[in-house]
This record gives sequence, C-alpha cells and structure tokens, in this order.
Amino acid sequence: MPVETVAVPVTHPYSVFIGAGIDLAEIFSGSLEPGGCAIFTDSTVGPLHAARVRNALQSAGWRVAGKIELPAGESSKSLDVYADSLGRLARMGLTRDGTIFALGGGVVGDLAGFVAGTYMRGIDLVMLPTSLLAMVDSAVGGKVGIDLPEGKNLVGAFVRPRLVAADLDWVATLPEREISNGLAEAIKMGLLSGGDFFGDLGLIGAALTGDLAALQTLVLDSVGFKARVVAEDELEGGLRQVLNYGHTIGHALEAAAGYKLQHGRAVAAGMVAAASLSKERFGRDLRSVHEDLLSAAGLPLRVPDVGVERALLAMGRDKKRSAADGPSWHRFVLLEDIGKPVRSVPVSEEEVREAIGAVVE
Ligand SMILES: NC(=O)c1ccc[n+]([C@@H]2O[C@H](COP(=O)([O-])OP(=O)(O)OC[C@H]3O[C@@H](n4cnc5c(N)ncnc54)[C@H](O)[C@@H]3O)[C@@H](O)[C@H]2O)c1
Ligand SMILES: [Zn+2]
Repeated sequence: MPVETVAVPVTHPYSVFIGAGIDLAEIFSGSLEPGGCAIFTDSTVGPLHAARVRNALQSAGWRVAGKIELPAGESSKSLDVYADSLGRLARMGLTRDGTIFALGGGVVGDLAGFVAGTYMRGIDLVMLPTSLLAMVDSAVGGKVGIDLPEGKNLVGAFVRPRLVAADLDWVATLPEREISNGLAEAIKMGLLSGGDFFGDLGLIGAALTGDLAALQTLVLDSVGFKARVVAEDELEGGLRQVLNYGHTIGHALEAAAGYKLQHGRAVAAGMVAAASLSKERFGRDLRSVHEDLLSAAGLPLRVPDVGVERALLAMGRDKKRSAADGPSWHRFVLLEDIGKPVRSVPVSEEEVREAIGAVVE
C-alpha cells in the first residue's frame, strides 16, 4: 500500500503522511532539519512503539534529550501533568530550537502540543498519532490543550505541527474499542461532508476489524475533509465550527461523567442527540442513518450514569458559548441533510434537556 500525503494549506503548511509501514527516518529527513528533541508518549503506547521512533530519530541524525511517558488516559490532560512536563523538559535541557515528537492518541497530542506551544514561548511539534481518533482528527488542525475540572479543553492554543505521520501499522495494537472511538469522528466528518466520503462509511465494518485498506481510505477522507475546513477557517471564526457536530452535548457528557466517559463514546451519543434536534428544526429524520453507522462501528447509542442536570451545567461553561446568548439558549451545529451542516442554530434549554435525557441510560 503506497504512503499517501495530504497537504494542509494553512499559513505555515504541513504534510500528513498516511500509510502502513511508513519509513519514519526517511520522512523526518525529507521534511525537517535534525536537532535536539523530546519524545512524549503514554504508558501504553511508549512500551509498544517508542523504541522504533527513537531509532528512526537517531538514524535521521536527531539527539533525543529524553522521553516523557504520561499515564495513559484523559486525566493526563491536566494542569498538574502540564506543569510537570514543562519542568522535565527544562531539566532535560531542551532548548528553544528543540522539537517535541508526540507519539500517542489525542491525549498525548493535545497535552504535548500545548507544551510545545508554550515551552520557551513555543518550540516545534511533530505529531505521530497512534490511535485512530488521533489519525482522523486530533493530530491535524492545530488545536491543542488541556481540561479543567470545570470543563473540557478549557485551556489551550493553536499550535501547527511541522509534520504529521500516521502509520496504520500502529492500529494493530489498538484495542477494538478504541478503533470504535476513532470511527465516531470519521462518521461525524462523513455526515458533514456527504458525497463520496459519506459513501466510504460503508467501510466501517472492515475498518473495525483492522483492514488496512479500509482504514487508509477513512483516514485519508477524514484528514482531507478536515484539511479543507481548517484551510478555510483555521482559527474557528466560522466554518470550522461544523467540526463540533455532536460535541456540544458530547463534551458536556464527558465533563458530567468526570472524564470517565471516553471522548468517542460521548461524541457518538452527542450526535444521536444532535440528530433529534436536527429533525425538530429541519424536518429531515436522519436518526436511523446515525444509529446504523454508529452501531456498525461498535458504538453505543446511549451513555450510562451521567446526570442530565450536571451535563446542562457543563454546557453552560462550554467555551463555544457566546456570552450574549443568555442562560436558556444554546448554539448547535445541526444537519439539514447529509452533507448540509448548519452552524449556530439556537436551541432552547428545554429542548437540550430532552435531547440529553434521550441519550442517557
Ligand atoms: N485537538 C483536537 O482537534 C482534538 C480532536 C478530537 C479529539 N481530541 C481529544 O483527543 C482525546 C481523545 O483521543 P484518543 O481517543 O486518541 O484518546 P487517548 O489518547 O487516551 O487514546 C486512547 C487509548 O488508546 C491507547 N492507545 C493509543 N494508541 C495506541 C496503540 N497504537 N496501541 C495501543 N494502545 C493505544 C492510549 O494509551 C489510550 O489508553 C480527547 O482528549 C479529545 O478531547 C482533540
Ligand atoms: Zn472530537
């Protein structure tokens, strides 16, 4: 399978390499000047894949100052882990011209990316996404950040990577449950995009079993779609908001569950809720389309043990809310049809309460 490349044409453009068995040393050498660097990974991915990355870096002439292995899981996107990571980089002696290589899922990418954007006012970042979710979504687009107990992703920045390399061989060690989580974001983008990408969602079943060709198609579709959206509106002044489809309620469910609910699962339930709100607003009933796709991806349509009122409270703190909206209205991305998202649709608190209630067990 040939390695494919997607260009992200933002102010400082970067390439996303997507394929199985990528020659990392060759790609590093072709795109970057070697220097000092640190590898960020987590306690699950590090033991499986960090040695290969370290070897590739060394053979491409890099000096690896050290490796930071975060505890696996969302709880590493915290102020404590952030502060600890900065201190460790300083003690390693990583300098301003250094680079952080983020090897892991969305948690490693978001945390390490925020560290890269702020350590010494910003050093270079390379994303090596190992979860399907990170490959299809979080490694591309430049959003990085951490959570607060008060809400998800409440602290962050835009930090463009210099390079992204998604080796599909990494998916071989990813548990099926995590493939499902990544498919939630791919389904989101297929619904937003419509057209051929929506048709390719027929490959979900094969992707779930680890079929490399199916995975490559869905990662290419997703990254291509996200790159087009981000190129048009990198800092989320308008169009980029569509990528939050399913996330207004999804993030609220995550925060209300104390981040014990996985992002992909929360977004799946958030999309089911958004499909109900879309039907109320625009008449088109896309609920069974959503349910069929999410079920094929092995995702539950409801989430357990989340208080509806807690979720509403977390929604009130969502950073996408505008102060002018007042307490009883929320803004949503909804679907008029497949491939036809509408941004900033006002929805009343009562309608939201009902929509959340329907996706909580
Ligand atoms: N920045 C963005 O634009 C953006 C977009 C979407 C999601 N996100 C964020 O991404 C996070 C979710 O990402 P995620 O689902 O990748 O979570 P994650 O990083 O926690 O990874 C999920 C689990 O899979 C493990 N894992 C990852 N790759 C593996 C591999 N190859 N083999 C075995 N295990 C592996 C991890 O150790 C972890 O336990 C959330 O915090 C979410 O907010 C950010
Ligand atoms: Zn997401």
